[in-house]
Amino acid sequence: MTAAQAAEEKVSALSKEFAQKATVTGRKLTKEEQKAAKKAAKKQERAKLAEESRRISSTLSAARFAEDGTTPRDHLENFAAFAKFDRNGLQLTLKAFARGAEGGVPPEVLKACFDMTEANMKASYEESGWGWNALKKQRELESEEARLLVAFDTDDVPRAFLHFRFEREEDQLVLYVYEVQVDQATCARKGVGRHIMLLAELIARRAGMDWVCLTVLNCNEAAAKFYERLGYKMDETSPQVSQMEGEEDASYTILSKRCGAKPATASA
Ligand SMILES: CC(C)(COP(=O)(O)OP(=O)(O)OC[C@H]1O[C@@H](n2cnc3c(N)ncnc32)[C@H](O)[C@@H]1OP(=O)(O)O)[C@@H](O)C(=O)NCCC(=O)NCCS
Repeated sequence: MTAAQAAEEKVSALSKEFAQKATVTGRKLTKEEQKAAKKAAKKQERAKLAEESRRISSTLSAARFAEDGTTPRDHLENFAAFAKFDRNGLQLTLKAFARGAEGGVPPEVLKACFDMTEANMKASYEESGWGWNALKKQRELESEEARLLVAFDTDDVPRAFLHFRFEREEDQLVLYVYEVQVDQATCARKGVGRHIMLLAELIARRAGMDWVCLTVLNCNEAAAKFYERLGYKMDETSPQVSQMEGEEDASYTILSKRCGAKPATASA
């Protein structure tokens, strides 16, 4: 029996006992009895919160790490069929990378992902007013939290990638898409972006996440249309929703999509 269940039983037993007393004697509960009932109810609430917090932590840990609790999970192991993209004249193979996983993240893969991001995003960052901070982007990609799905062509050249992380936002579990980048010269508008985002959604759902979230710069209209097409909506944490009157317009929007279902097994 869990702590929350035990507390719940205690509250229920106490209420029954008090109700019985009140019915038999026709009297109201004494102050002490009321105090005891309140105390038990508070204890029950605390135990419930603690149990929920434990559930969230263990789901997050199981999402990030394999059974040993320390090695990053191979997020493609259950999705072999999605690791190939063979459409619209492209033949790509997806591979998963993370620091601490077998093979880590090879420096040439990190460099290719960074270069693709810079080529695609530098102008938008500058236009947005955020400015382009190469070091910050590199650090983001190299973070221990970062999980990468990289699509290689037949010459083993990275042509698209997705950087995501599993995060907790209060009592919600989120797969946060930090980056989705497609090589514009060779692969744009051929379904690769959609494929890799759908894969991320499947991974999120299997891992028991509640949401897939991401941030898009408002000046990046193509990306906004892309996410809209995939069903993403403005999140309630987006500055446009939470903004106080008189504050300046934000240069970005937070989008989200609800994950469909909970994992098939607790360890998934
Ligand atoms: C935005 C991006 C991820 C889209 O990936 P993609 O592989 O080119 O897009 P897809 O072919 O999967 O497009 C799926 C749908 O999204 C929409 N879409 C994609 N690119 C679009 C664009 N440039 N303009 C309008 N709609 C677009 C379309 O509805 C498209 O479906 P359709 O081609 O059947 O009409 C990719 O072009 C990219 O890397 N852009 C530069 C980097 C970037 O902005 N990343 C997002 C940062 S938040």
